[in-house]
Amino acid sequence: MKKLVIHGGKPLKGEITINGAKNSVVALIPAAIMANSEVTLEGVPDIQDVHSLIEILNDFNVKTHFENNVLKIDPTDIISIPMPTGKIQSLRASYYFMGATLSRFGEGVIGLPGGCFLGPRPIDQHIKAFRSLGANVNDEYGVVTLSTPEGLNGARIYMDVVSVGATINAILASVRAQGRTIIENAAREPEIIDVVTLLNKMGAKIRGAGTSEIRIDGVEELNGVTHTIIPDRIEAGTYMAAAVAMGEGIKINNVIYEHLESFIAKLIEMGVKLDIFEDSIYVYPSKDLKMVSLKTLPYPGFATDLQQPITPLMAITNGHGTIMDTIYPARVKHIPELNRMGANIRVDGDMIRLEGPSKLTGAQVKASDLRAGASLVIAGLIAEGETIITGVDNILRGYTNIVGKLQALGADIQMIED
Ligand code: EPU
Repeated sequence: MKKLVIHGGKPLKGEITINGAKNSVVALIPAAIMANSEVTLEGVPDIQDVHSLIEILNDFNVKTHFENNVLKIDPTDIISIPMPTGKIQSLRASYYFMGATLSRFGEGVIGLPGGCFLGPRPIDQHIKAFRSLGANVNDEYGVVTLSTPEGLNGARIYMDVVSVGATINAILASVRAQGRTIIENAAREPEIIDVVTLLNKMGAKIRGAGTSEIRIDGVEELNGVTHTIIPDRIEAGTYMAAAVAMGEGIKINNVIYEHLESFIAKLIEMGVKLDIFEDSIYVYPSKDLKMVSLKTLPYPGFATDLQQPITPLMAITNGHGTIMDTIYPARVKHIPELNRMGANIRVDGDMIRLEGPSKLTGAQVKASDLRAGASLVIAGLIAEGETIITGVDNILRGYTNIVGKLQALGADIQMIED
């Protein structure tokens, strides 16, 4: 079993470079199987989710080569294979193979997605989109079976909830459908724009990505291209939170500031001083941080994925604050663990209530999901004494070389294997 051991309280200083976005790459990889020749993705993060997706591609008889953050995907000899169980169930983003196989083969059998437990994570909007395009969808015993007896036809799809996954899946499924598809109430996350940029380079005709109405005119075929992935705004936000907590001046490289506007606005409200450059952000040492309250919302609102990483920072500030996660109200598994480290946080229905300032001290805690893990790493960096974090695989699913990156800033953090 892997464990992270952190001796907290050490000042952090230096530079850190952000990798390509996890939530982009997990959609770009399935999208690549729709091409008729090799797709090259640059800036691919070396995370467990990427390795799992590569295994799934290989099971589809897709050739891959992954080296130095460049992933080559050659789907020329791809075959339609049912995947009800196995690796496909190990990550949430496997659901993108539903849209991709539907588009590529007109059929697919995909085991229901796993991933972090954040409370209920339905896929009704994905299924509604596929059905609108003319697909038959059978969702039984944890396996989704898709077929298209009469091909896919463009349709008007209204999303009842704003969903990143359902928006991307509706795009994937409609790119090669006959005629025009209009997705209304679409999600506007930067990762959606990234997927659409790749697909349009491949030959798709998609307009409106980044707005709540996306229009897709079906095309016959898609070609292999080269694409560089956008930087991971959640990884950047996580290290910014660490920099605010313990930094003596940290420069974060490879950042698109606009993707982090709501997070940065909250840090500024807390009293954090930053310099923003073309593609980097410098975080000054912080003192006397102010408590804030926040509410997570679909993009461009405050990201649910940064709610957990900012919580330990809020816990050490003075006053009463609240967090309301409107996307995943049950995303609270970090709270009891932070309380074991000395935080004073209460989950009150859909509201997280913080009373600060708390002095954090080392403890043995468990990372029960990816961002809860990020939250505990930050708490461990702040805390006096030794913090031992289990559930490390959850963290490695989404953060490239987190130990090495933090060590380079001066953190006393190690991964040990029992
Ligand atoms: N929802 C439905 N029906 C659906 C789909 C979603 O009711 O068919 C609801 C969800 O329950 C949730 C809301 O809609 O309340 C938004 O969910 P969304 O579909 O946008 O989430 P997702 O696509 O499954 C992605 C990221 C998550 C991130 C959310 C929200 C990937 C692989 N995952 O999930 O990332 O939290 O968007 O931004 O892109 C993470 O990186 O730690 C992570 C969990």
